[in-house]
Amino acid sequence: MVIYMKKRIIHLENINSTNSYLKELAVGGAEEGTAVIADRQTAGKGRMGRNFYSPDSGLYMSLLLRPKKNISDALVITAAAAVATVRAIESVCKKKCFIKWVNDIYTDGKKVCGILAEGSVLPNGKTDFVVIGIGINIIEPKDGFPSDIKNIATSLFEKNTDFYTVREKLFGAIYNEFFSICENLSDRSFMDFYRERSLLLNKDIFYLENGIKTAATVTDIDNCGYLILKTENGTKKLNSGEVSVRIKEDE
Ligand code: BTN
Repeated sequence: MVIYMKKRIIHLENINSTNSYLKELAVGGAEEGTAVIADRQTAGKGRMGRNFYSPDSGLYMSLLLRPKKNISDALVITAAAAVATVRAIESVCKKKCFIKWVNDIYTDGKKVCGILAEGSVLPNGKTDFVVIGIGINIIEPKDGFPSDIKNIATSLFEKNTDFYTVREKLFGAIYNEFFSICENLSDRSFMDFYRERSLLLNKDIFYLENGIKTAATVTDIDNCGYLILKTENGTKKLNSGEVSVRIKEDE
């Protein structure tokens, strides 16, 4: 069943950020399932205030969710988006993908996709909406990746692929996967898939929190999406917030 055909899908050529645009629509009352897709973004946003390079060789999409439960679900919603994206890429492009907590998607050892969740809470503390933004490098940018990301970024295909067909299929597959997981978010069986594809599980890592770098081993990722760590000072549960994580062997 193609769920997304019944919903409002807005396709733009140029926009600063599909997330920012969809957040404005959400504030104006747009319904769950509204989606924005752009050919390119002039100010694509990444996690932790970073820029997301968005030339016209990728898929840049944002999806609007109005969760019935509270924002404490935000981390798990991001994990659901990562699972939906991996499943979609694998079925459309036949590329095996892995997830670097919390929501970077890797293939062939490099990052091919980033996900940014942004939420809004009502004065009564209830979650009003969550916008999930997904950016995928489908083909190599025509001038290559900028120097600051060229060693860590990759694309699903080199140049000679049917870009528009792949982009449309990916959009539809992600949309349907994501909303079908979210229909029953309390069934956390998709987290088994998340753990199975995790790049961090059972790895020695460093995490950076408030400017402090700490060594740890990842012992689990729980059903809420928290990273469970063994550190010198005991067990720690890590929320995504403003934390960045590096695998020790990649240092
Ligand atoms: C990251 O890698 O840190 C997250 C990147 C998220 C990029 C997507 S592209 C579509 C949506 N609009 C944005 O401005 N950002 C997200």
